This record gives sequence, structure tokens and C-alpha cells, in this order.
Amino acid sequence: MIEELEKIKKSALKELNSVKNLDDLEKWRVNFLGRKSFLANFPKQFKNLSPEEKVRIGSFYNQIKTELETLYQNKKEELSQKIEVLFDFDHPGSKFSFPSLPLIQTNLKRIIDIFRDLGFYVIDSNYLVSEYENFDSLNMPPYHPARDMWDTIWLKKPNKYLLRTHTSAFQVPFLLKFKPPVRGIVPGKVFRFEATDARHDFEFYQIEGISVSENSNFSHLRFIFKEFFKRYFEKNLEIRFRPSYFPFTEPSVEVDLSCLLCQGKGCLVCKFSGWLEVAGAGMIHPFVLKQAKIDPNKFQGYAFGTGLERLIMLKYEINDIRLLHSADLRTNEI
Ligand code: DAH
Repeated sequence: MIEELEKIKKSALKELNSVKNLDDLEKWRVNFLGRKSFLANFPKQFKNLSPEEKVRIGSFYNQIKTELETLYQNKKEELSQKIEVLFDFDHPGSKFSFPSLPLIQTNLKRIIDIFRDLGFYVIDSNYLVSEYENFDSLNMPPYHPARDMWDTIWLKKPNKYLLRTHTSAFQVPFLLKFKPPVRGIVPGKVFRFEATDARHDFEFYQIEGISVSENSNFSHLRFIFKEFFKRYFEKNLEIRFRPSYFPFTEPSVEVDLSCLLCQGKGCLVCKFSGWLEVAGAGMIHPFVLKQAKIDPNKFQGYAFGTGLERLIMLKYEINDIRLLHSADLRTNEI
């Protein structure tokens, strides 16, 4: 009987060694100390023993049982402490990073700040505009072929409304609200009925600039552009005005920036011209001033429109506009 007890003790010790959690420990307890265990039922055999043997085996039995019970208690404490560590609220948690604001938002904010510093109002405006605001007020009556320059998303109801194809749609409403002399920008989303590719998306952001006073002129516009690009790209860049055509400006220009990547030497990005097209601009057409009830003989002004995504793509060397509008958080980590 002594050997039986020793055998049980041995296997109990061995198994206790491999117990790693409280569930396993409970199984171990049921197995070795539980009601149905060998040890619990062992004393049943005492009745057949002589009184001396009862004392000898009985005390050995008690010793083993106490030993195993003590080991059980110790192990239980040890494993419970481990759990407490898991719930130690002072323990520093593992780090996780919050996504930053999208590039579109951070850059728009930067651009707004720059123009504000240059003395421009910043105006919010509607996505949904009338045909008059988007076209007629800008010297593009219904028959005018220039309307084809903007693939338009028209609304069925209300008729003659559309998702603005350019922020220029706010030129006349802006000038009606703020009397000259005035300078302002209208940043915001515009929409085109276009297939998407690496350089085009059906929605994107523009920044419209307007300045009207008694003598706002091209050299002011040139200064504003130079200063804006210098602050935004943090580089001193050359700009170039190239003759162009827009119905709402006369004369009209395309604004080119010396290539950021090759400094004007010629590379793949600027198609070896050394220049990058970044904005449309011009002196506001008298027709447009008249729509805003401004006397073109007394006031004059310039306007410009530039695409936010294009500027961001150039600044961060991103080669697909769609990345900026996707939910891929990696784009923000640049
Ligand atoms: N609205 C034009 C476009 O979306 C850009 C533009 C050109 C805006 C000339 C202007 C401007 O204010 O004067 O293509």
C-alpha cells in the first residue's frame, strides 16, 4: 500500500509540473484530490489493517495528502498571480498608431493658411449649382462650344442644376456678396463626367482665386502665384504665363511652374519641357464683372483656378490621383 501511495505521489508531482493554467490545475485537483480520486477513497482499505499498520500507513497517507494539498494551494496562488499581471492596469499597453488626416485635408489647410496670410478671404460654397452660375454667368451661353470643355453631371431634378464642374461657378456669387476691392479663394470639390485614370478622377478639388479692385493686374497675379508656390513647395520656383483661352477671362493664360523634379532641365514628369502646367488664370472678362453688377470701367481683376490633387501629387511624387481618394491609409503616411 505504501508503494501504491508513492506511485500516486510520483505521478501527481509529474503532472503538476506540466500544469500551465488554472483550468489544468482544476483537472489535476479532481484527478488526484477530488471525491472520486484514488487518495480520497484510499482510507476505505484501512478497515482490513492491523492497528499498527493503520498508524504507519495512515500517517504516511496523511503526509502525502497534505503535501499534495499544499502543492495545489501554492500552484493555485502562483497561477492566479500570473492572471493579475495580465490585468495590471498600470502596465503600459502596446502601441498603435492613429491614422493622420488625409493628405487632401492637410494640404488644403496649408493652402488656405497661405492664401489667408496673403490677404485672401476663404469662402465655402455649394457643390450643387445652377446652369447660370456654372456657365452663363461666365460668358458661356447654351450654344457656346466652350461648355464642352467640362463634361458635366446634370441633375434631372431640379432641371438646369448640376454638380459644379469648376469652382469658377462661384465667381459671380462671390463678387455679388463681397464688393470690391476684395480678394478671396473658393476651395472645394468639383465634379466631371469622366472616366478615371492615373491623372483624372470624376471628382477632385480646385482652388479658385479672385481679386477685384481698381488696379488688380497681371503683375499682382504673378506675385501671388510666385509667393504661393514658394510657400507651398518650400522652394523658389520659376513661373511662366502661356497664352490660352477661357471664356470668362480676357486675356487668359495657363500658368506653368518650373519642374520640381528636374529644376527645368527636362525629365519624364515634365515630358522634357522643363515646365509643369498647374493653373488656368486671366483678367476677369468685363461680361463677368457686369453679371456681378460691377462697373468694368471702374474695376478690374484677375482670377485663377488650380487643382489641389495635382499640387499634392507633385509635392509628394504620387503618380496616381486615385490613391488620394482611396481609403488606403498608407497614402497618408508619406
Ligand atoms: N475653371 C477652369 C477649369 O476648371 C480653371 C480656370 C481658368 C479658373 C481660368 C479661372 C480662370 O478662374 O481665370 O478648367
